[in-house]
Amino acid sequence: MNAADYQSFADAWESRATIRTRPRRVLENDDKLIYPLSRQPLVLSETFLRECPEQRDFALVQTLYKFINDVVIFETEIVDKTARSIAKNRFAVAFPFACRYDAMTVVVDEDYHALVAMDFMQQTVAMTGITPIDLPDEIELSRAIPAAVALAPEHLRSAVELICVAIAENTVTGDVAAFAKDDTVKQSIKGLMADHLLDEGRHSGFWARLVRIYWHTASEDDRRCIAHILPIFIGHYLTNDIQKSFDFRLIESLKISDAARHALKSEVSGLAFPINRHHPLVANIVRFFRSSSLLDSPCVQDALSDYLV
Ligand SMILES: [Fe+2]
Ligand SMILES: [Fe+2]
Repeated sequence: MNAADYQSFADAWESRATIRTRPRRVLENDDKLIYPLSRQPLVLSETFLRECPEQRDFALVQTLYKFINDVVIFETEIVDKTARSIAKNRFAVAFPFACRYDAMTVVVDEDYHALVAMDFMQQTVAMTGITPIDLPDEIELSRAIPAAVALAPEHLRSAVELICVAIAENTVTGDVAAFAKDDTVKQSIKGLMADHLLDEGRHSGFWARLVRIYWHTASEDDRRCIAHILPIFIGHYLTNDIQKSFDFRLIESLKISDAARHALKSEVSGLAFPINRHHPLVANIVRFFRSSSLLDSPCVQDALSDYLV
């Protein structure tokens, strides 16, 4: 695919974008969970169930706050930044106007997702009276993207940024999908996830197409250089440090004995996924490498051999 073949999705955006079609969602005060148990394994641990099962909802509310905080950082600091520079034609890779227009719809969608997430934060605080513990000021990508870009020569920096954002936009999608299907969770929270997912379906294809267009024009030397950076980016992206320090702060905030606190911390430390082909996000990442055509290149196949089955 080259740039001249690019088809805009502007019509689909007009008729389906959640900012165009969805009323405000209101958090319901019912008995359902505010966050899926499966996404905060701390509350399913033996120690938690024995020592403080009554603090489960507190832990789930705090984990929802962390999720919302991550969404706001991802949307406003990561995706917005790259999409906006494409829209404004400030990107080193030149894209046709139709791409730039679609990039602007991504900016609008992402800032709207951040707004909706902040709305759920304020609704949850109002309903539960629980205020957030200290939330991280960065996400894994806040470190992984600059680390990858720093490894690239000047003329490849924006291409590397584009590929990193495209990877991220193609992995979170599957991650949120599991969330939207969980019937133990409040309807409004599931609706929030389903809305987000609907927009992200459009985005993931958009980023994959931009990467295809770029890759098509890249020289063999440039491809090889980028291929070597990919596994380093993935290593940073999949680390568990930020989640783990959040979980530790959450454990600190529980009303439990010191012995229980100690036991919970060691249980949480054992929960991290390995950074290899068995990590749950890797299947999504590999699918993106196929759909964007990167994996057609032997240099990419070689560089990613640890992640390929
Ligand atoms: Fe989004
Ligand atoms: Fe997105």
